[in-house]
Amino acid sequence: MKKTIFVQTYGCQMNVRDSEEVIGLLLEKGYVLTEAEETADVILYNTCSVREHAEHRVWSNVGALKELKGSRPELIIGIMGCMAKSQRGEILRRMPHVDFISGPAQLYEVPELIESIWEERKPMMAIQEKRRQEFQTISYHSGKISALVTIMEGCDKVCTYCIVPYTRGPEVSRPAEQILSEVRQLASQGYKEVMLLGQNVNSYGRRLPSDATGVRRGVTFPDLLKEVNGIEGVERIRFITSHPWDAVQDLFRAMGDLEHVCEHLHLPVQSGSDKVLERMRRGYTAEEYLGKLKLLREKVPGVAVTTDIIVGFPGETEEDFEATVRLMEEARFDSAFIFTYSPRPFAAAARWEDDVPKEVKDRRLQRVLALQERMSREESERYIGRTVEVMLEEPGMGRTRTNRKAYFESNGASAGTLVQVKVEGIRGHSLLGKVNGDHA
Ligand code: 5AD
Ligand code: SF4
Repeated sequence: MKKTIFVQTYGCQMNVRDSEEVIGLLLEKGYVLTEAEETADVILYNTCSVREHAEHRVWSNVGALKELKGSRPELIIGIMGCMAKSQRGEILRRMPHVDFISGPAQLYEVPELIESIWEERKPMMAIQEKRRQEFQTISYHSGKISALVTIMEGCDKVCTYCIVPYTRGPEVSRPAEQILSEVRQLASQGYKEVMLLGQNVNSYGRRLPSDATGVRRGVTFPDLLKEVNGIEGVERIRFITSHPWDAVQDLFRAMGDLEHVCEHLHLPVQSGSDKVLERMRRGYTAEEYLGKLKLLREKVPGVAVTTDIIVGFPGETEEDFEATVRLMEEARFDSAFIFTYSPRPFAAAARWEDDVPKEVKDRRLQRVLALQERMSREESERYIGRTVEVMLEEPGMGRTRTNRKAYFESNGASAGTLVQVKVEGIRGHSLLGKVNGDHA
């Protein structure tokens, strides 16, 4: 009988893609993917370390597997991803039922690790300090019309709150030819949308794998967008994430000019206080950030901007916090992910006192959540009466180019079809409407 694998993924889209790649490799080796964790032969947790909360969930869920392992000692349990790198000592100490741990740069080694555990039955660890040097093209994608495509790995920034440069290592870009051939392949399989992934896509092309041959040097992110835009069959191009420091006019121009690049930019601001931004080492001021938004909105009319915000960073005063509130009011984000600060090992700020009391962090969080909710609703209301292009994802549901969900009667149209929807109402962040004309 074929062996079954269960995979649980936490964290960002990069992690989602990493899980798909591991699944793809294991499917090639004859494993079968299952959703039944209790009966799986191999259980993989692809973990995230970005905030304390993300790690808590993994600790409790992996802890709970102890019983399963007790009743089925042949079960293989693997911890992949950022926690495998940042918490390896703790995992080995606290979770003796875990068979292997493998960092984000070692995902291609996972099938061999599993094979050797079947053979030798001893715990394994694959964690390298080097940066990732290789990108494979693995054809497994969990989406049907939209596919995630890795364009780079790691991060060269030095944001003082962030663990990612440690867990994912220094930045390295995937050769453009390889990306383009993967996108061509996806388009020929019927994928209509690609989401280009990297920790900081706007620095794409700055560092290529040192051993890569035949790499076209000098390809920037806007160049890459242009090339992907020219691939037949690709209707929509999205990308994530952009660091404001590297997001410049060339990007905005490309977004405005290229037909298939969607009008959505995720541009994490983190704070509205220059003092805090400086201590976060973000490399821009609030005014510079707002200046970029202005330019973006000129070049890309109707663009939706989303962001990430941290409240309660060490040393954040009421005045600093008010500056964040003011920036949000001015920026009018379409939506925002808002977090309370938690110290992360290996990040510079972890050495500083986490001096904003929990109640203050929570109060600030609630205040900006409420503010954002109000502004998101107001932004939603602006859609009412307008007709927007929606790509059908499942019967009755699709997404606008600005990444809003839209619900409507789809009358049997198939996934991937583009329809024009007249918006008649809103529900939370989603739009409700009717299809205009014949779209069959
Ligand atoms: N504490 C709270 N939020 C954090 N983020 C990253 N590190 C931390 C931390 N130590 C948030 C940032 C980032 C998002 C992915 O997670 O807002 O953009
Ligand atoms: Fe989490 Fe960051 Fe690692 Fe993604 S890169 S899994 S968000 S810690």
